[in-house]
Amino acid sequence: MRPSMSLVRSVQRVTRRSYSSEAVPERKVAVLGAAGGIGQPLSLLMKLNPLVSHLSLYDIAGTPGVAADVSHINTRSEVKGYAGEDQLAQALEGADVVIIPAGVPRKPGMTRDDLFNINAGIVKGLTAAIAKYCPNALINMISNPVNSTVPIAAEVLKKAGKYDEKRLFGVTTLDVVRAKTFYAGKANVNVAEVNVPVVGGHAGITILPLFSQATPTANLPHDVIKALTKRTQDGGTEVVEAKAGKGSATLSMAYAGALFADACLKGLNGVPDVVECSFVQSSVTELPFFASKVRLGRNGVEEVLGLGNLSDFEKEGLESLKPELKASIEKGIKFANQN
Ligand code: NAD
Ligand code: LMR
Repeated sequence: MRPSMSLVRSVQRVTRRSYSSEAVPERKVAVLGAAGGIGQPLSLLMKLNPLVSHLSLYDIAGTPGVAADVSHINTRSEVKGYAGEDQLAQALEGADVVIIPAGVPRKPGMTRDDLFNINAGIVKGLTAAIAKYCPNALINMISNPVNSTVPIAAEVLKKAGKYDEKRLFGVTTLDVVRAKTFYAGKANVNVAEVNVPVVGGHAGITILPLFSQATPTANLPHDVIKALTKRTQDGGTEVVEAKAGKGSATLSMAYAGALFADACLKGLNGVPDVVECSFVQSSVTELPFFASKVRLGRNGVEEVLGLGNLSDFEKEGLESLKPELKASIEKGIKFANQN
């Protein structure tokens, strides 16, 4: 299935039909960090999604304006804005999916791990509130460093007695979006038909695109595969440098976040064969969290799929990424249990 096309079709459907005729279940989606660089376009894209009936936009400030603006769009969902911690409970109550792009972005010269000191605390606080007010929601974690923020969220939920590994996702869809785009350019194939799994984590060499499994096949030479791998791994940095101090990817991330949330909603609604890559609790490798293809269903993760056949280059990449990914996971777990 091609999620990008399905989102486009969903948007086309909604422009043709009145929201009152939707025969899909009510679904509340909350965006935490909705006034930010990702949060605003992501809120717009979720407003265009006909699977959403209630759109809850939360941030520490600025959400009344974003919500008023987005709410004028004539699509199905009812939009509400919530600002400040005393409105967080209301923002979350009844949510089916909570998307978290809250936190600071990188500037040139920084790694995603340099964001840990600020974002770890933000994610911890927001996850504690989710445990309290909507413990059954599917959590889509966008805030970086994803390799650590997902383990932090897991520990916070465990402490609250609310952890369900099927409901916690690190959003790595942007890596897949980039891998597809870059591959299509080199393979000279229709980008809308491209599929490339991206596994591992979401930072530098922990991002491992599996171009040996890319379709349509193109038999690209090894030096091109190496360059495509490096460009996918450095895709975030490419944007950070181009924005020259004004943040990191926001528009492509909003698109990727909307695709992933759409897949979660489809899974919740019982649509069969919804498969996306995501950083989840995993036994695919010896690491407790790992990104790979995941089948989504009525309870979130239905099945974590294996890696399939890897090329020797990908096998090497897999072994090289493990120490860094392990350290980032452990850092997150330690933070959650110490603070
Ligand atoms: P931004 O600074 O533009 O927006 C962040 C928003 O979070 C701000 O509006 C801020 O007020 C809000 N915020 C801060 N603390 C909050 C809290 N406690 N509760 C609710 N909201 C809070 O940043 P951005 O460009 O939107 O990026 C957000 C995060 O997403 C960063 O950590 C960035 O690294 C990450 N990111 C991840 C991916 C990915 O692929 N997973 C891609 C791009 C960016
Ligand atoms: C990305 O991949 O674009 C994000 O993780 C943001 C970043 O810091 O690169």
